[in-house]
Amino acid sequence: MGAIIIVDAFWGDSGKGKISAYLTRRENAELCVRAGIGTNAGHSLYLGTLKELQLISTRQLPLGFLNPLTMVAVGAGVAVNPSIFQEEVEKYHLQDRARVDYRCPIITEEHIKQEQESAHLSGKIGSTCSGSGAARADFVLRKAGQAKDIAGLQPYVTDVAYLVNKAARSGTVIVEGSQGALLSLGLSPDYPYVTSGDCTSLAAAAQIGLGWQNISEAVMVLKALPSRVGEGPLPNELSADEIKERGIAEHGVVTGRLRRKAVGIPWGLLRYVAILNSPTQIALTFCEHYDPEVEGVTTRERLTPKVWELITKVEAQTGTPVTLVGTGKLFEHIVDLSERAAHSCVKSNNKKEFV
Ligand code: IMP
Ligand code: MG
Repeated sequence: MGAIIIVDAFWGDSGKGKISAYLTRRENAELCVRAGIGTNAGHSLYLGTLKELQLISTRQLPLGFLNPLTMVAVGAGVAVNPSIFQEEVEKYHLQDRARVDYRCPIITEEHIKQEQESAHLSGKIGSTCSGSGAARADFVLRKAGQAKDIAGLQPYVTDVAYLVNKAARSGTVIVEGSQGALLSLGLSPDYPYVTSGDCTSLAAAAQIGLGWQNISEAVMVLKALPSRVGEGPLPNELSADEIKERGIAEHGVVTGRLRRKAVGIPWGLLRYVAILNSPTQIALTFCEHYDPEVEGVTTRERLTPKVWELITKVEAQTGTPVTLVGTGKLFEHIVDLSERAAHSCVKSNNKKEFV
């Protein structure tokens, strides 16, 4: 019972969408709500086989729709591009089970153009130029449109804040956050190399109007080799050649840019984001980039000593159990350690001394 919030530790692209889809199925969630900023986020996962990958990707709707029994919705604080919303509804046949909060601010072509034409945003910051920031700025100035004003959205508009709290009291709700804690507008140390809103667990709850008593868990998704797209600091960054040599290149879902990648987890920053997000669980993803031997592994017995050492270090540094381990591209490339966490000596209440 309650809402499980999924957020990212660092700079996004850690596989929140896959974790959300997985938990939506495992928990039989009746509702999955997208929180976060807008259509700047690309959430994706792969079905099929390694030979024939089938990409499922969205920028507006949460990937929780992979459970055919789950309703999916966009929370009130998320900027909505009506064309993208409608395209995704059609592409994934969600006409009967997609909703959008009537208060969502609307992204227009003008917002996208403004961002593309801004040398500051497209050049210096490396914005995705999705129009999300410009729409949010207009919303703050009280001149943006809202979902309730858009004819094409009428079949889908509702009070998602009401729905999410109601559903969290009678069953399980998954909240799919976007971006990452260190891209937070107000809480990242890296301003101006940030997005246009905060991306922590409680920011996600606030964005969708979820009351704190209805939150049951916060899952922080941590990428074994963190990545960043756009400008701003990335500790221990690998060169483009090193990325290629290791065979771990990734490209952004929204812009197709090559993601910058780090050689490992920056431990001081991890302790900091564990304070900001105060997770009750951690999903450690992209472990196959850290140790290629775990590629595609689905059982705990096949995790290598190298990955177990990493899990143990993450738990020791954050005071939070690692409950899910991502091992590859495909949806089923995941090891579920949640039973172990129930018996773990690592307490899941994240009360480590501040460092
Ligand atoms: P904007 O939010 O599109 O203006 O982009 C601001 C910064 O956040 C840029 O560095 C983007 O690359 C980054 N960013 C925005 N959305 C995402 C995301 O979903 N994943 C990773 N980085 C993002
Ligand atoms: Mg992404």
